[in-house]
Amino acid sequence: MAFLCYDTRVTRDLIHIRKGTLPDLSQIQEFTQNTFSWGDYLPKAWNDWVRSKRGDLLVAEIERKVVGTIHVRYLENYEAWLEGVRVRHEFRKRGVAGAMIQAAHERAKKKKCRIIRLETGVDNHAAQRAFEKFGYRAIVEYAEFKAKTGQGEMTARLATADDVSACWSLWDSSWLKRASKAIVPAVYGWRWWEYTRARLMNDILGERVWMMRRAFLVLREMDRESLDILVLVGAKRDAMKLLSDVKWIAARKKKQDVYWLAPHSPRAETWASEARYKLDETGLVIYACEL
Ligand SMILES: CC(C)(COP(=O)(O)OP(=O)(O)OC[C@H]1O[C@@H](n2cnc3c(N)ncnc32)[C@H](O)[C@@H]1OP(=O)(O)O)[C@@H](O)C(=O)NCCC(=O)NCCS
Repeated sequence: MAFLCYDTRVTRDLIHIRKGTLPDLSQIQEFTQNTFSWGDYLPKAWNDWVRSKRGDLLVAEIERKVVGTIHVRYLENYEAWLEGVRVRHEFRKRGVAGAMIQAAHERAKKKKCRIIRLETGVDNHAAQRAFEKFGYRAIVEYAEFKAKTGQGEMTARLATADDVSACWSLWDSSWLKRASKAIVPAVYGWRWWEYTRARLMNDILGERVWMMRRAFLVLREMDRESLDILVLVGAKRDAMKLLSDVKWIAARKKKQDVYWLAPHSPRAETWASEARYKLDETGLVIYACEL
C-alpha cells in the first residue's frame, strides 16, 4: 500500500493542513468509527464544525489523502478549546498530530486567545505525549459521580442577581476553586473553562444556580436523560442538602440521572458517598497551554 513507502522523516514534509469541508466526512468516517471503546462522536459533530463560525476545523492531508483532523473552538474571555484530534491509524507517530496542533495554535493566536485547553483520558498516553510535546500541562483530573433521581423535601431556591456577590465569595474561598485551579465544566457542551464572575452572573440569569444560605451549585442540562452539576461550593451541610435537592429537581424535569463533575479528590469522594452518589468515571484530565 502507498503509505508503506513513507518513512517517518519524509512524511513530515508531505503533511498539508487545510480547512475541513463537508465532502471530507466520508474519509473522516474511515478512521473515526471506533476511536475509543465507546466509539466516537466526531462524525456526528462534523457538519456543525464545518459550518461553525466560532472555531476552525482543520484536516491534515498526505498526497490528497485525509490522514488527520483537529477542531479548535474559540470561547469568550480569550480562551480556546481543542477537541477532535484524530490521526488515521497507519499514519500515526509521523508528526501528523504535531503539525495539526501547531496549526490550531496559530489560528487561536490570530483570534487573540491567550490560553488553550483540552480534555483527555488519564490512560491516553499517546495523546498526553503529543500534547506535552507542544507545551500542554495537566491542570486537574475530574471525576463523575452519579445518582438516581428521587423524591424529597426541597429546601434550595433559585439564585437571583442580588445573590451574585454572596455566591462569588463562597466560590472565592472554596476548596473547589483551589482543587480545580478555577477550571470548571462549561455550561454548553463537553468543554471546560475558567470560572469568572461574569460566567456566574450568566448562570444566575439563566436560572442554573440553586442555593442555600451557605452553598450554591450550578446545573447543566445537556441531554434529555440527565442533569449535570458543574460547580458545587459552600459549607458542607448546605452542600449536602443541595446534592440531595438536585435529585428532586431532576425528577421534576423527568430526568433519570444526576451527574456531579468534581475534581477527583478525597473530599469529593466523601461528599459524594454521604449524599449517595456513586463514582461513575475517573480520569478526565484537563490540560492547558499558554499561547
Ligand atoms: C494521539 C494521536 C492524535 C497522536 O497522533 P500522532 O500523529 O501519532 O502524533 P505525533 O506523531 O505528532 O506525535 C507527537 C509526539 O507524541 C508521541 N507519541 C505519539 N504516539 C505515541 C504513543 N503511542 N506512545 C508514546 N508516545 C507517542 C510521539 O513520540 C511524538 O513525540 P516525538 O516526536 O518526540 O517522538 C493519535 O495517536 C490518535 O489519533 N489517537 C486516537 C485519538 C485520540 O486519542 N485523540 C486524542 C483525544 S484527546
